[in-house]
Amino acid sequence: MPLRTTLRFPFPTEPALYVCICNALNERKVREAMASCPGSVARIYKHHGCVPQCGKCVPVLRDMVRECGFTLTPEPLPAA
Ligand code: FES
Repeated sequence: MPLRTTLRFPFPTEPALYVCICNALNERKVREAMASCPGSVARIYKHHGCVPQCGKCVPVLRDMVRECGFTLTPEPLPAA
């Protein structure tokens, strides 16, 4: 089943949904990271100074990177 994300640019005015519960990253924070360091899921975590905990958000983050038109750069995820 494909993952569904709703991406809107520029930033939405309504409250942003949480993408990563473990690190409290919502859509707005993820877009902010993609704008300043696009192309990889690892850079999203790095931008916010966190690392993946359970990893359940990784597929959604990958989809968001692709749906925003960035080529996904293979990069190892930061370790805890
Ligand atoms: S939901 Fe993102 S690491 Fe757990």
